Amino acid sequence: MKKIFLGSDHGGYGLKQKIIEFLQSKNYEVEDVGCYSDESCDYPPFGKAVGKKVVENKGALGIVTCGAGVGISIAANKVKGVRCVLANSVEQTKLGREHNDTNVLSMGGRTHFDDDPLDIVDTFISTQTDTSNRHMRRRGMLDEL
Ligand code: RB5
Repeated sequence: MKKIFLGSDHGGYGLKQKIIEFLQSKNYEVEDVGCYSDESCDYPPFGKAVGKKVVENKGALGIVTCGAGVGISIAANKVKGVRCVLANSVEQTKLGREHNDTNVLSMGGRTHFDDDPLDIVDTFISTQTDTSNRHMRRRGMLDEL
């Protein structure tokens, strides 16, 4: 079973707690790198911490949340080896896993969702990556940037 690392700021704290409960109910091993309350804090260290854990633990996935999902996704994407998708739909999440081999999912705790956020999480952890040549080539090009 994949290990899943989670991180948030205060704006994503409530959503992260729901996601942790959901993942634990499905017996996933989860590690929450913080924050640990809805008190105001800065998102960059939490995005970086999740990104580093995902890169250091082969096969692991990460989920990050902040108010908009934007800032913490930028922070995670600054870690070499992270491919973080900011998603508010099952479709984006599925395509991101298949085509881009995304290893971190970001969501905004204060934003509108096209689909239930827990369905988005479920899609993220259950969708397999497409290893056909064209997608591998494009992902390789991303690694070179
Ligand atoms: C915090 O107020 C907010 O800026 C943050 O949660 C996030 O939305 C940043 O992208």
